[in-house]
Amino acid sequence: MREVAVIGIGITKFGELWDKSFRQLIAEAGSKAIFDAGIEGKDIDALYIGSMSSGRFIGQEHVGALVADAAGFSHLHIPATRIEGACASGGLAVRQGYLSIASGVNDIVVVGGIEKMNDVAGASATETLATAADQEWEAFFGATFPGLYAMIATRHMHDYGTTKEQLAQVAVKNHANGAKNPYAQYKFEVTVEQVMAAVPVAHPLGLLDCSPVSDGAAAIVLCAMDKAKEFTDKPVKIIASGQASDTLPLHGRRDITTLDATVHAAKMAYKQANVTPKDIDVAEVHDCFTIAEICAIEDLGFVEKGKGGKAVEENITTLDGEIPVNTSGGLKAKGHPVGATGVAQIIEIVEQLRGEADKRQVEDARIGLAHNVGGSGATCVIHILEAI
Ligand code: COA
Repeated sequence: MREVAVIGIGITKFGELWDKSFRQLIAEAGSKAIFDAGIEGKDIDALYIGSMSSGRFIGQEHVGALVADAAGFSHLHIPATRIEGACASGGLAVRQGYLSIASGVNDIVVVGGIEKMNDVAGASATETLATAADQEWEAFFGATFPGLYAMIATRHMHDYGTTKEQLAQVAVKNHANGAKNPYAQYKFEVTVEQVMAAVPVAHPLGLLDCSPVSDGAAAIVLCAMDKAKEFTDKPVKIIASGQASDTLPLHGRRDITTLDATVHAAKMAYKQANVTPKDIDVAEVHDCFTIAEICAIEDLGFVEKGKGGKAVEENITTLDGEIPVNTSGGLKAKGHPVGATGVAQIIEIVEQLRGEADKRQVEDARIGLAHNVGGSGATCVIHILEAI
């Protein structure tokens, strides 16, 4: 396999972006990434686009070709493919781009991720997100994503004594980081008291335990390592790409507080990178709900099973902690335009490893991990990156 590097990154602001179309968002992120990499359209061998549900959110499918056109590349006839894996669509697109270069098929690819979720009403967005759950066993009976993660939280509290305050501390940390991120949807800090008092969504999760409904796009340029130095003096190497799957409905799992897809994808990635969880200097994990971050830091092996709540309470995951998690603000504060999330996570890790994360910079960060989950854990994709 050939080595692969990230040589360019570009992102739009995340939020309720009424004044920008799907086309404008992806063109903005893509052109920033291409400019950052110093490449031209003629250098690009392929495009991979992560998007979960453009058909339901904006009535538009066939977005691979649409994105190539919006980027101004239709005359170049570049192969353009849309990848779908619910909220892991972006991470899966990164993996497809990575594999296409590692295998020797392509030299330079652009990977984009996008979702425009606010063009439909809130109830419709919730219904669309629930298409990533099992229709027969979960959604048909009224289960929503906040509802499914509330069940995971309740079980975690029962089994390990995790408290609502500990869940709230995840939101407090991620809002503090998001406040330092110019692209974040929510650039304000919150207190434990505010999180605890927020309007209930699905017990024990309140409004401030949830990621928001977001619009936004992100893009990266991947390049074969042996060519990367032609374009940049700061390539960031992808040293592992792991992927795993699990049952769609929660009831099929051996334990609903463990996302086995994360456990298996992490095992694959750590083996390929030849690192252990202790070697990771900074991580972006899939905190679609506060409980999801607690499960993730356990499943990724950063802390012992059942100790995630305690670890957050002890500030192990803050910017200056032992293992800083979600320095971007995470899905909670940066926002969660589902198809864009997995690509945006890679962008935060690249900024950290290049030393360009400004007020969010983790000192001496050399190895970073991005963890992207689809649905309630039926798909997981993990990338590990290293500063060169
Ligand atoms: N965190 C913080 N504030 C939020 C928020 C969130 N997650 N969601 C909405 N708000 C704020 C809005 O900015 C708005 O503030 P304003 O009145 O100052 O403008 C206010 O709360 C009401 O917003 P609204 O859009 O009406 O909220 P809602 O009740 O329709 O939606 C949720 C709230 C939690 C239901 C929605 O954000 C949601 O579904 N989140 C989960 C998304 C999800 O499941 N993603 C997939 C994960 S696998």
